[in-house]
Amino acid sequence: MPGSTPRFVAKARELGVDEVFLDLEDAVAAAEKERSRGLVARALRDGGWGTTIKAVRINDVRTGWAYRDVIDVVEQAGQWLDSVVLPKVTGPLDVGWLDLLLSQLERATGLPSGRIAIEAQIEDAAGLANVDAIAAASPRLEALIFGPADFMASLGMRSLTVGAPPPGYAGGDAFHYAHLRILTAARASGLQAIDGPFATIADVDGLAASAASAAALGFDGKWVLHPGQIEAVTRAFSPTQAEYDRAELIIEAYDYYTGVQRRGAAMLAGEMIDEASRKLALATAARGRAAGLARTQRFEPPG
Ligand code: GLV
Ligand code: MG
Repeated sequence: MPGSTPRFVAKARELGVDEVFLDLEDAVAAAEKERSRGLVARALRDGGWGTTIKAVRINDVRTGWAYRDVIDVVEQAGQWLDSVVLPKVTGPLDVGWLDLLLSQLERATGLPSGRIAIEAQIEDAAGLANVDAIAAASPRLEALIFGPADFMASLGMRSLTVGAPPPGYAGGDAFHYAHLRILTAARASGLQAIDGPFATIADVDGLAASAASAAALGFDGKWVLHPGQIEAVTRAFSPTQAEYDRAELIIEAYDYYTGVQRRGAAMLAGEMIDEASRKLALATAARGRAAGLARTQRFEPPG
């Protein structure tokens, strides 16, 4: 949500999404940057966010705005701020700079040390090339976020449609390398991987395809730019009832076969399951439970 528009920010409280970020970066005009810091801090202080995670995206470290974005927002509303989204991260020093500044501010304002998390946007060639070091740069890091708009611009992709496949590309998924690179770096450092925006709001099918692809690969979530995008993205990242049932069944069956029968591998409905199947099932089951699904099947021990 652009931090310069209080009407949008007020609306963000009612959306029921997992996280909202109030933007001071690319959705805010240069002439509005300074005024927006106070608006964002007030929106955090005013409350009414329920369980929604509250983040602020500051300007990137190579601008003259970044340091004061952090200082003003944390000094005025640090106790209500969960996370800072750092855009255009090109290397671990960018994250280290923010980590130190947050530590100074937490100390000066009496906040618990390490309270405010960092989410790093990977959205240019340098950021992708350095993504492993970036992912390991600070214990505050919670997520890496792919930024397709800036990434497309950085690489020179011939497209004007953010997040959608560049027209004419005949090689498959143009974002596959970036997605898998970011996902692998995130997992190697125990972070979440989040996919960035899909800008054509009216193209819900295109959004659904983009979200389904990121979810299938293993991403944990995706940004939305408009309330009309929430349903398609939520659906893409939630397992279906059948997937959820099967995941819970695998967990239950595996417990039975390893615990009661003391076998490491067994057959379940024609498919071999073992410890690795259980790990996969745990992830799907956790997503299903988080989405509020309930089981409709139980495991029947053989015989
Ligand atoms: C988001 O910031 C993007 O560049 O896609
Ligand atoms: Mg960007």
